[in-house]
Amino acid sequence: MPSSKQTICSLVLIFLSSAGSTQKDYCAKSEGQCCRTFATEEFNQTSRSIFMIRPQGRLGNHITAFAHLYQLREELGVDVYMERETKDLMGSVFSDATLQVMPVYEEEFCNFDAIPLTEIDLNIPLLLQEKTYRQGQTLSLRNKPNQGTKIYEDYVARLTASMKSVLHFRTEILEKVWSKMEKIAIKFWTKHPRIKPETPITWIGIHNRRTDLNNYAWKKHGLVPLEEEYFVEAMDYYRERFGEAVIFLYVSDDMKWGRQNLMNPKRDLFFVGNGKTEDMDEIAFDMTILAQCNHSITTRGTFGIWTAILAGGLVHHEVSVCVCEQDYCVKSERQCCRTFVVEEFNQASRSIVVIEPYGRLGNHLTAFAHLYQLREELGVDVYIVNQTRKLMSQVFSETTLQTLPVLEEEFCNIDDIPFRDFDLDIRYILTDESYRKGHILLLLDERVRHLKLNQRTKEYREFIQKFTNSMRSVLQFRPEILEAVDTKMTKIATKFRQKHPTIDQAALITWIGIHNRRTDFNNFAWQKHGLTPFEEEYFVEAMDYYRERFGEAVIFLYVSDDMKWGRLNLMNPKRDLFFVGKGKTEDEDEIAFDMTLLAQCNHSIYTRGTFGIWTAAMAGGLIHHERGVSENVVDI
Ligand SMILES: *[C@@H]1O[C@H](CO)[C@@H](O)[C@H](O)[C@H]1NC(C)=O
Ligand SMILES: *[C@@H]1O[C@H](CO)[C@@H](O)[C@H](O)[C@H]1NC(C)=O
Ligand SMILES: *[C@@H]1O[C@H](CO)[C@@H](O)[C@H](O)[C@H]1NC(C)=O
Ligand SMILES: *[C@@H]1O[C@H](CO)[C@@H](O)[C@H](O)[C@H]1NC(C)=O
Repeated sequence: MPSSKQTICSLVLIFLSSAGSTQKDYCAKSEGQCCRTFATEEFNQTSRSIFMIRPQGRLGNHITAFAHLYQLREELGVDVYMERETKDLMGSVFSDATLQVMPVYEEEFCNFDAIPLTEIDLNIPLLLQEKTYRQGQTLSLRNKPNQGTKIYEDYVARLTASMKSVLHFRTEILEKVWSKMEKIAIKFWTKHPRIKPETPITWIGIHNRRTDLNNYAWKKHGLVPLEEEYFVEAMDYYRERFGEAVIFLYVSDDMKWGRQNLMNPKRDLFFVGNGKTEDMDEIAFDMTILAQCNHSITTRGTFGIWTAILAGGLVHHEVSVCVCEQDYCVKSERQCCRTFVVEEFNQASRSIVVIEPYGRLGNHLTAFAHLYQLREELGVDVYIVNQTRKLMSQVFSETTLQTLPVLEEEFCNIDDIPFRDFDLDIRYILTDESYRKGHILLLLDERVRHLKLNQRTKEYREFIQKFTNSMRSVLQFRPEILEAVDTKMTKIATKFRQKHPTIDQAALITWIGIHNRRTDFNNFAWQKHGLTPFEEEYFVEAMDYYRERFGEAVIFLYVSDDMKWGRLNLMNPKRDLFFVGKGKTEDEDEIAFDMTLLAQCNHSIYTRGTFGIWTAAMAGGLIHHERGVSENVVDI
């Protein structure tokens, strides 16, 4: 007895036949009800394989299944089908066009129950490499952890990229989300009248997966639920990184927990989630709003992984902070880093070079510059350590920081990486080509602590010259510090002109940055090199040099880690010397200000240490140093 379904189907079939398309017994899929019969006898060893997945659990897992099927079809040329539940769940979030990229198993085959499916593990490396899976098989793929292989990680990167272009949200939900965000933004500005209204808002989506997954995570992995500290720390991370105009949108399957446990002292946290895990419309809203954010804070579960991927930007995760662009998100539910596989590293692999500097910002900058240039010139893989990123983030823009990856963020298992301490002069790496492949080198800071220690060879001098030039374009200061510096310089210029009414008020001012490195470095220089501290004569002579060279409209900006010494010892008869440094070597904001200010000057007076080398290098112009005046840091 024909059901109504079959009736519609045959009607359409007739229409299709008359249109001359009798190749296949597809009906108009748009009817949503037509199916074809899978004929076992026609399916043979040369037929394209059929893959399908029946995911367990909620929306996040269904999207993961969809993504795997999509990507496997792309790469293996097999036929893939999503389960009807996948379509139903995804249909409340994603557009019809998105769903149409993949047929539904139960809709495609009238006799889907009769298809002899073989259940096998979703073993990605095996499926990608073993050609026998591509033809003649009807497979139901069972979830399996695949982490830890390069082949899987590369595959996930491709899958992530595919999904970013395939998955489109439903327009009506997007509209609701935008209107919600607009309202929140208005509220935020009312609460923060002091933040400049034209500042672009950085949106951070927080997904806190709790309820049933807490039990699962505990039983399966011994994980305890994340406490409020995790969120406080994650939010502070983003506030520090992106400044004041940051809004956090909180979504959870247990909204009550967040409202009860998360304080909101900065009034930048908004509880937007509906938390009703049974209502697909609300889940759709929650997923869409998180995906509209610029960066993410995730906890556990695939829902948060997908919202983070679709949001793009950074992902603050239990173990570190990662960038979804670089596919560190889906690598595993718990880790956004990749695993270093010793067996896969061989003589043909690009060498890995890491520098772990001692000391303060200046040394870290030196390490950064060396690594940058080593990568440019030798094509090796380089990583900065997280301390370098941390110190540099106080001074330099986000874009600058993204130029080099961080060792601890990139690899989950840094302890397994067989680093070899490299305690030879860096020139060996520069000149000996055998270092470019198959080496994993940890450069000891000793080699780069003082540029001048290494200046013996022609190659190394050239190398310094090159990285100094590179750094002038790579290193960009944080805009808010630049602004503060600009304001300060304008004020000083006004003061200077008031004190010197005889100088042509329109004369272009020449700014000279003085960096006087003292405190601990004086001991170091004395013990290690028998150098005595600089006396006031050095500065008097250097300032006279610049006054003579550039005329009256010269302003000196003095920065030191011991500001008191300068104020006590340096006379200021010409009233052109300004003590602008904060001298608080522990306060990173003040160090950032000092560095940015000196780098804005036209010329420099240098004493010792890498901080002054870098401010002089970034300022460009002339450098007055112990042994004369030079144009390049390499000659200091
Ligand atoms: C396999 O089936 C296809 C049609 O599905 C047919 O064209 C082909 O000849 C068959 N091959 C073998 C070896 O039976
Ligand atoms: C944040 O993302 C929105 C799109 O959702 C974009 O328009 C905006 O420019 C981004 N803001 C920042 C600060 O990156
Ligand atoms: C750097 O990473 C190490 C190891 O993962 C960690 O113990 C340390 O706290 C991190 N330091 C910073 C400044 O993030
Ligand atoms: C000094 O540097 C500033 C940029 O910081 C520049 O605008 C100005 O023209 C320079 N002055 C001279 C005299 O070179």
